[in-house]
Amino acid sequence: MHNEIEKILISEEEIQSKCKELGAQLTEEYEGRFPLAIGVLKGAMPFMGDLLKRVETHLEMDFMDVSSYDGGMRSTGEVKIVKDLDTSVEGRDLIIVEDIIDSGLTLSYLVDLFKYRKAKSIKIVTLLDKPEGRTSHIKADTVGFEVPDEFVVGYGLDYNEKYRNLPYIGILKPEVYGG
Ligand code: XMP
Ligand code: MG
Repeated sequence: MHNEIEKILISEEEIQSKCKELGAQLTEEYEGRFPLAIGVLKGAMPFMGDLLKRVETHLEMDFMDVSSYDGGMRSTGEVKIVKDLDTSVEGRDLIIVEDIIDSGLTLSYLVDLFKYRKAKSIKIVTLLDKPEGRTSHIKADTVGFEVPDEFVVGYGLDYNEKYRNLPYIGILKPEVYGG
């Protein structure tokens, strides 16, 4: 699997130390508030785990699966709820945990939905930000790393459901996706 990666953009060590740093920030900010952390499946799964184990105050976790992508590399421009939350967000302080913001479509949909459902506050924490891909005006409150406008895989991010289990973020060799 590793020999299908052309270049490692963000190493395992860099990711882990970022999780520690961001976890400490969340601890300070949410001390005594019992926020609801919402992981956006499936991509946010590794980041959610590594980030939240660094938070040293009580929080609740839930997951939502929305999809704006068809398994490939292009957005369909359409967001659909594949799995909704089990928890009510009304009156809650939310921390949305995402793997990457590209067009911003997914997050602007979620933010509107949670506002409509009367969340008290909404914070967006994303591991990666691809600012050049943005077509909606959504902005993350906290960004781990900025990445260039290239398709990245690993640490939750997939190409046709593969590579999510890599411990780092990398770029695929073009021959892997027939480029
Ligand atoms: P939007 O465009 O709605 O995208 O901000 C968010 C979702 O799109 C997927 N995405 C990627 N997945 N490599 C991936 O494996 C990428 O470079 C990439 N860019 C966007 C991802 O699921 C994200 O949650
Ligand atoms: Mg995603």
